[in-house]
Amino acid sequence: MSEWLQCITNPDHRYSIDEIRYTCDADGGLLSVERDHIVDRDAFDDRHTSRAAIDQSGVWRFREGVLNVDKAVTHPEGGTRLYERNGILFKHEGENPTGSFKDRGMTVAVTQAVRLKATAVACASTGNTSSSLAAYAAQAGLKAIVFVPAGKISSGKLAQTLAYGATCLAIRGDFDAAMRLVREACDRFGIYLVNSINPFRIEGQKTIIWELLQDLGWDPPDWIVVPAGNLGNTSAFGKALREAYAAKWIPRMPRLASIQARGANPFYRSYQDSFATRHKVAAETVATAIRIGDPVSHDKAVAAIRDTNGIVEEVTDDELMAAKRTIDGMGIGCEPASATTLAGVQKLRAKGVMRDSERIVCVLTGHILKDPEANFRAERVVEIDAHLDAVERALQ
Ligand code: F0G
Repeated sequence: MSEWLQCITNPDHRYSIDEIRYTCDADGGLLSVERDHIVDRDAFDDRHTSRAAIDQSGVWRFREGVLNVDKAVTHPEGGTRLYERNGILFKHEGENPTGSFKDRGMTVAVTQAVRLKATAVACASTGNTSSSLAAYAAQAGLKAIVFVPAGKISSGKLAQTLAYGATCLAIRGDFDAAMRLVREACDRFGIYLVNSINPFRIEGQKTIIWELLQDLGWDPPDWIVVPAGNLGNTSAFGKALREAYAAKWIPRMPRLASIQARGANPFYRSYQDSFATRHKVAAETVATAIRIGDPVSHDKAVAAIRDTNGIVEEVTDDELMAAKRTIDGMGIGCEPASATTLAGVQKLRAKGVMRDSERIVCVLTGHILKDPEANFRAERVVEIDAHLDAVERALQ
């Protein structure tokens, strides 16, 4: 186990996770890595209709390509819907058990933590990873410790994390400081780290793409659009697409579009100089989920953009909040970070990078109730006396 822990907590360790499968030895300790071949996609399609608990999960349905176990800590997760509105598809990952896409990686990471006989798990988080970790740790009977930037996560996410029983350390500093600290703490205290530098998280998050492709009958869209913060999802999407293409599940590669908030745009800046420099910024954005200035999965995300002929775009807070109101107004709803996707599509269409005829899927990463503060619009609330006259006046 210590060898494995060093693997994932040592920032200098280069750990390729392509084409490999992770297994523990008899003590649940030392990890070997192998992946023979990914199964024929028909097996996944058959499971779609299976009633077995593990097959009900939109993650474990793909287990040969994720982590091949027959017992998992699962709610189950995934199985999220695809909405079509005004010619754009929205895959709503806010429909996962704890309200964000994080559950897909977390079910795998916590399953692995149990296999490794870990007793405590930790992460740094802007609120969604912490909520997800807290829920899965509660289910597995593990101690959960979360490091969040003090005063910088939404009330909904903080309340949810606490409700599931996690120990919450509010760090005086930003997410990037919390991230540095949790890595050191896990190393020092032998705690299992489940941020997306843990490869099992990435393995689980690949299934957003595989489930999407499956829902589209393996006929890939032209574009898949994703919010970009710590870059775990961008990395996972790249890996999912590489593997799907290599296994001939899909005849062509969709293009990835990773969208950042302008005030938290280190990846966009790197993209602008053809990834010659890895940028760091002091992040500031209304979309607190992606208020991240030094994303840990930078290198893997660069590969994802390159391998999919992808692009990186930035949108302002005003643009992403306007897009959120559009998504909310269509009756779907999402948290601010998720709305970078539609804002990005609008911008890229205006630039002529995306064409109207192209099939576009926006991945909505978090539920509308995750960030209650972002939903209050004072002009919509009219306080009145409890009289019919007052109702009439208010409706004029
Ligand atoms: N959207 C939402 C709703 C998120 O919570 C996050 C990340 C992202 C997008 C960005 O995804 O980091 O894979 O690029 N939230 C993390 C957290 C940082 O702690 O919950 P990413």
